[in-house]
Amino acid sequence: MAKLKILNHPLVAEYLSILRDKNTDKHNFCVAIDKISYFLAADIYQNLNVESYPILTPLKKTKGFKVKENVVIMPVLRAGLGFTKGFIDLYPKVKVSHIGIFRNEHTLQPVNYYFKFPPVRDKKNTKVIILEPMIATGGSAIYAAKKLFEIGIKKVYIASLIAAPEGIKEINNSFSKSQSENLTVTVCAYDEKLNDKGYIVPGLGDAGDRMFGTV
Ligand code: URA
Repeated sequence: MAKLKILNHPLVAEYLSILRDKNTDKHNFCVAIDKISYFLAADIYQNLNVESYPILTPLKKTKGFKVKENVVIMPVLRAGLGFTKGFIDLYPKVKVSHIGIFRNEHTLQPVNYYFKFPPVRDKKNTKVIILEPMIATGGSAIYAAKKLFEIGIKKVYIASLIAAPEGIKEINNSFSKSQSENLTVTVCAYDEKLNDKGYIVPGLGDAGDRMFGTV
């Protein structure tokens, strides 16, 4: 089973409520998703390894620390773009990969139309964070994580707002034991279910539409 972490924080709960509210307009929706991205980034970045190096304070020599591995974030187009600012602001050295996946409306299966991964020196020592705000069927997140394991990435994280039990179950059934051990899903809420159209209930509606005004 992949590790599932639910981010419990009073401010995350408040911003998530703003996102859920159907009366929240496009601007405030984007502001709230951006705020939450900092909490998710801070939480997931706790997993990065650091190395020490000597620095001089105005008073004496001491140890400084810096992250010693490559980090790539991979927003799933479109809604994943809403998380990118927080992740880049907190750690500007991240490289950004993009993956375009849409759900076939009839089969609800993921269809990949774009994938670009930045050149990294050492894929085995690169951590990749998939930005997928809504884990509904889990199809897009699973597709993206599989693609990363296929190209040689060892450690994969998924940052999300809301997961449905159906999506988490599918994630748990889709990877080998060793892949699952190297996959962590961090969500802000674990909702009730999917409806017959594949929307998370209670959820927040279509995150991409609400961010980009395409409702
Ligand atoms: N994608 C969304 O944006 N919302 C859902 O409820 C399900 C998938």
